[in-house]
Amino acid sequence: MASPIPCQRELFDIPADLAWLNCAYMSPMLRAALDHPGVRRKAHPWQVRPLDFFTESEEVRGLFAELVHAGANDVAIVPSASYGIETAARNLPAEPGQRILVLEEQFPSNVYPWRALAARSGAHIDTVPRPADDDWTGAVLATIGPDVAVAALPQNHWTDGGLLDLERIGAALREVGAALVVDATQSLGALPLDVRRVRPDFLAAAAYKWLLGPYSTGFLYVDPKHHDGEPLEHNWINRAASEDFSALVNYRDDYQPGARRFDMGERANFALMPQTAVALRQLLDWGVENIHATLTARNEAIAARARALGVATVSAERRAGHYLGLRFEGGIPAGLGDRLAARNVHVSFRGAAMRVTPHLYNNDTDIERFFDALQASL
Ligand SMILES: Cc1ncc(COP(=O)(O)O)c(C=O)c1O
Repeated sequence: MASPIPCQRELFDIPADLAWLNCAYMSPMLRAALDHPGVRRKAHPWQVRPLDFFTESEEVRGLFAELVHAGANDVAIVPSASYGIETAARNLPAEPGQRILVLEEQFPSNVYPWRALAARSGAHIDTVPRPADDDWTGAVLATIGPDVAVAALPQNHWTDGGLLDLERIGAALREVGAALVVDATQSLGALPLDVRRVRPDFLAAAAYKWLLGPYSTGFLYVDPKHHDGEPLEHNWINRAASEDFSALVNYRDDYQPGARRFDMGERANFALMPQTAVALRQLLDWGVENIHATLTARNEAIAARARALGVATVSAERRAGHYLGLRFEGGIPAGLGDRLAARNVHVSFRGAAMRVTPHLYNNDTDIERFFDALQASL
């Protein structure tokens, strides 16, 4: 049973009179991460030991693995979602005439790599149109057939939180021999995901939103059947025996085990890795189920009040609980974002939706500030 988590604002550096309702854009970092001595590590390079290039990355890899219920061996450290998805696109086959499924208005980092694969292979992009009833799962299931090579999908739509049941979709894709690639950037850390049940071929996530990490960090889960794939870059640390710095001149064709071959160059970032570890440990401590339950209750309350103002959302059953997109009849009023920002209320606008995405640092005062500003701005 998930239990609600009390407000955690004191762990962040957010002014009392500012409502940051915009985790979907970027989370603030934890004070504990910003205060980590690793941030100043390179002031004293004589304290950086060769072993440190490995131990911190392995710790972070293990923490991410725990979050998605994978083994550390199945996780690569990457700088961005796009890097992870490009790695997937370079390692999945597509034949002329086959289809690659994406959603209408999907985030571009999970579209461009597939366009490039389509151009290379003769496959084509099949864009699943936004369903009028917000049932993305039904819409994707209805289009899966034997000519699908890959479905590249999120766990929820980045504009308005529209939810996809990736377990059902994954099972249907496996039946036709198609691959599943997941961009979990807008869900992981706030919406439970178990790779043992979803069974994606690849799953990428940037860490600077719901994983509370620094910018330029991310992860790629790689199913073991792709562990012999081709990395995007050929860097020294991914090769076997790279722990022995003096022997690096003995070039090797073999790699570090598992998904480590897909790690980005300079993944042993002495500032970012410890900060990422602090964030992942905090998420695991809170528990993703508990985070999800807390944010779901918060968003349901916001959605109910918004409805009373005539503003719609995707219904609770078809929306990820942690993610809210508000829809205005007749479209988003011009200048609304600026009027809210002038009152220290920060949200974002993507497609036809105004994203209101609180996290555990938000309190009731933020929500009152939001509704006061919204009512004054409509
Ligand atoms: C769904 C989704 N994926 C990925 C990203 C970030 O992509 P990248 O890490 O390639 O910059 C975002 C950022 O808004 C996003 O909304």
